[in-house]
Amino acid sequence: MAADLSVKFTGLEFENPFLLASAPPTESESNILRAFDAGWGGVVTKTIGLHPVINVKGPKTKFNRTSVDSPRISSRRRPDSVLHSSWNWELISDKALDWWLPRIERIKKAHPSKMLIASIMAGSESETELEHWRTLAKACQEKGADGLELNFSCPHMDRDDMGSNVGKNQALCRQVTTVVKEVAKVPVWVKLTPSTTEIIYEARGAFEGGADAITSSNTFPSLMTIDPDSLEFEMQVDGYTSQGGLGGPAILPQSLAKMSQLCQAFPDRAFSGIGGISDFTHALNYFMLGCGTVQVCTAAMLDHAVGPNVVKALKEGMGQFLEKHADKGWKTLEDFRGCRRDRIVPQSRIKRPESKEYHGGHEAEGYAEPDPE
Ligand SMILES: Cc1cc2nc3c(=O)[nH]c(=O)nc-3n(C[C@H](O)[C@H](O)[C@H](O)COP(=O)(O)O)c2cc1C
Repeated sequence: MAADLSVKFTGLEFENPFLLASAPPTESESNILRAFDAGWGGVVTKTIGLHPVINVKGPKTKFNRTSVDSPRISSRRRPDSVLHSSWNWELISDKALDWWLPRIERIKKAHPSKMLIASIMAGSESETELEHWRTLAKACQEKGADGLELNFSCPHMDRDDMGSNVGKNQALCRQVTTVVKEVAKVPVWVKLTPSTTEIIYEARGAFEGGADAITSSNTFPSLMTIDPDSLEFEMQVDGYTSQGGLGGPAILPQSLAKMSQLCQAFPDRAFSGIGGISDFTHALNYFMLGCGTVQVCTAAMLDHAVGPNVVKALKEGMGQFLEKHADKGWKTLEDFRGCRRDRIVPQSRIKRPESKEYHGGHEAEGYAEPDPE
């Protein structure tokens, strides 16, 4: 019998907990249709704003690689190199709301049982800007979007009242979520930036505003490295670069740290995990911390743009996992969700060896031998 991969998350029925994150894989109708055909349980659209944006000249994303022969982290392709991270400075969708609306409607008609979450973003400095959030939310849900994800996380916005600047401000998180909830008839997820000291502080604001779930992480602030031959940044226009967002394998541990804080602070709330997922062993971490769904971007971009092999492996991996642990009575994700959440404790609570044997950890790899007494 095939394993039951289905989940109910924020009231929505997903045939599996694997979603494409808001990013290039979900930037068009054809991509989303291909993604659903490939087996993704849901998608979060590329973030939709009221005004089309203009991206930088040249590439918007590069992929950093490293290799056994050289520790260099570079987007330059080398033999036997492996993926380290994605780096991007892409803005939100360059298509207008009017472009998106008929497409959302057509996609939902073609795949009524697949979940389509519309990612939206506007400013927050004035009542006019807040009204933009309402306009976006109402328009997308009227065309059939099953849920909304509020983008409080884009790291490349120049405006103080947009993107990750909202996600760094508890009051704005609360206010914008409240405004959207006033008009929302579908679940509202809030995607927070990891670029903040205490993410649970902003999460609390979003929950107080009525958020049904928190999504984390968007990309981490970062710079591309300098090419030692040309002495130019590997991503630059006319010699200039700027801070961009790091995704992919490099951010898995960092993103898990943020998620563990969230899941521990709000154990009864819903979370969608993102960051560095390319196979089930990665996704498992998020599930065991307490996430009810996970989202994928970088790995999907590198697999035929929408990740057909990635989702196949995720589903097979989860099926095999459930089979392996059937003796524990684990039949669905709900049976093991959050089962490692309480294993993360302050360092001072980690057991020490007997005091005579304790050398302050100096026997660990990377430390010199302790000085003789
Ligand atoms: C090129 C690119 C564009 C992205 N655009 C968006 C976006 O429009 N809205 C959004 O919420 N996140 C956006 N993201 C962030 C991803 O959804 C995701 O949070 C991040 O890449 C981490 O996941 P990953 O490690 O699987 O790549 C983008 C990421 C990349 C690489």
